[in-house]
Amino acid sequence: MATSTFDTLLHKIETRAARAGVIGLGYVGLPLAIAVARSGFAVTGFDIDPSKMVALEARRSYIDAVSDAALAAEIDAGRFEATTDFAGLATCDVIIICVPTPLTKHRDPDLSFVEATSRSIAQHLRPGQLVVLESTTYPGTTDDIVKVILEGTGLRAGADFFVGFSPEREDPGNQHYHTATIPKVVAGDGPEALSLMKAFYGAAVSTVVPVSSNATAEAVKLTENIFRSVNIALVNELKTVYAAMGIDVWEVIDAAKTKPFGYMPFYPGPGLGGHCIPIDPFYLTWKSREYELPTRFIELAGEINSAMPRYVVGKLAEALDMRAGKALSRSRVLGLAYKKNVADIRESPSLRLIEIIEERGGRADYHDPFVAEIPPTREHQALKGRRSVALTPDVVSDYDAVLVATDHDSVDYAALAKSATLIIDTRNVFNRLGLSADHVIKA
Ligand SMILES: NC(=O)c1ccc[n+]([C@@H]2O[C@H](COP(=O)([O-])OP(=O)(O)OC[C@H]3O[C@@H](n4cnc5c(N)ncnc54)[C@H](O)[C@@H]3O)[C@@H](O)[C@H]2O)c1
Repeated sequence: MATSTFDTLLHKIETRAARAGVIGLGYVGLPLAIAVARSGFAVTGFDIDPSKMVALEARRSYIDAVSDAALAAEIDAGRFEATTDFAGLATCDVIIICVPTPLTKHRDPDLSFVEATSRSIAQHLRPGQLVVLESTTYPGTTDDIVKVILEGTGLRAGADFFVGFSPEREDPGNQHYHTATIPKVVAGDGPEALSLMKAFYGAAVSTVVPVSSNATAEAVKLTENIFRSVNIALVNELKTVYAAMGIDVWEVIDAAKTKPFGYMPFYPGPGLGGHCIPIDPFYLTWKSREYELPTRFIELAGEINSAMPRYVVGKLAEALDMRAGKALSRSRVLGLAYKKNVADIRESPSLRLIEIIEERGGRADYHDPFVAEIPPTREHQALKGRRSVALTPDVVSDYDAVLVATDHDSVDYAALAKSATLIIDTRNVFNRLGLSADHVIKA
């Protein structure tokens, strides 16, 4: 029985006769669904958000990494469709879960989306399916939560159906890599599940990297993000120390990175943003409590990175005071997105910058070519509905200071340098563009 279920599914995958279902059509799910469709599989996308269905039906992509043309091509070829009706899961041979894994108010893992999705799949589970988790999470989630919920149906993992984990490595805004060209780590809860994972992902992406267990693959993803968080915290700390010594941390990094081995550059900034780096490391912190083991690096990195917005506003206040004899009054925050050239403001430190400036009695407007209006956010309700202001010379010269939080490429920094009275540059963008000047202060 086990062998025949496995053989049938493997054959379906190898011949592209398998139908894939992608649950959660967000930053991760939509690009993945399109990459899988492009590799020849029929794909059904599932989401609970009806507004996404309206956009997809109109062949309009709401994710930068997927162009309208790429989306339309897969829909027109009959390889991609999207629905809110989960009954269609029964027709899928491979089901991939790409739903959010945020933190709760108390910074514990919130697996409610993964659990709800697993229960939806359980309602339609049948022999011969491969269920894959792609959401970032702590080691053990796939086997202890997803698999356990699915086995509640009476079907057995490894015999009737198969379970795998493959971490997502999307890098929004990266022009060099996209879903199909980023090597993909894959794992399964046994040799047959792993073979299915290799066959399926091997068809959709150029390189698969098999590891020995789902927990290992879950740990790979957390390790990658913890590595970033800790290294960004390190350069943020070095920035504050070197600034006090009159040393420019960006100059230090540029010279250090000429070492051809044993060094990898990370850059300081106004704090950590995005859906991954500020959040994922704490999934491991939570899990490690079960083993009574501390995760001091993770906690320390979190502390240093979340102190950055306050440090930057301190630099702004100091510069206003020393250069213009002014208190922190009307400043403008440039760049609301958490990183350059994207529209994503999740966990963006810019939101904290605005709040801190205003807590201290100032007033901060923002400009961001990608974010016309601040959407509702869980933690920054008061900022909802504020709109991006223009960046024309007369508007800029009317402000006491401009704080560059995100260095979007489309901004005319030369014009900004000319019209702004004082600039606080958290990204070293003016120096990089040869626009260093007395009124440009790095922070
Ligand atoms: N955004 C990234 O760059 C990135 C990178 C690597 C890993 N991840 C991880 O991937 C996962 C998904 O992140 P994302 O950025 O794509 O999130 P997202 O918020 O962009 O998308 C999630 C989608 O899931 C849908 N959804 C929520 N509950 C659902 C349910 N019960 N059934 C069906 N759909 C449901 C939402 O409507 C949304 O469309 C998270 O675990 C995240 O940590 C994200």
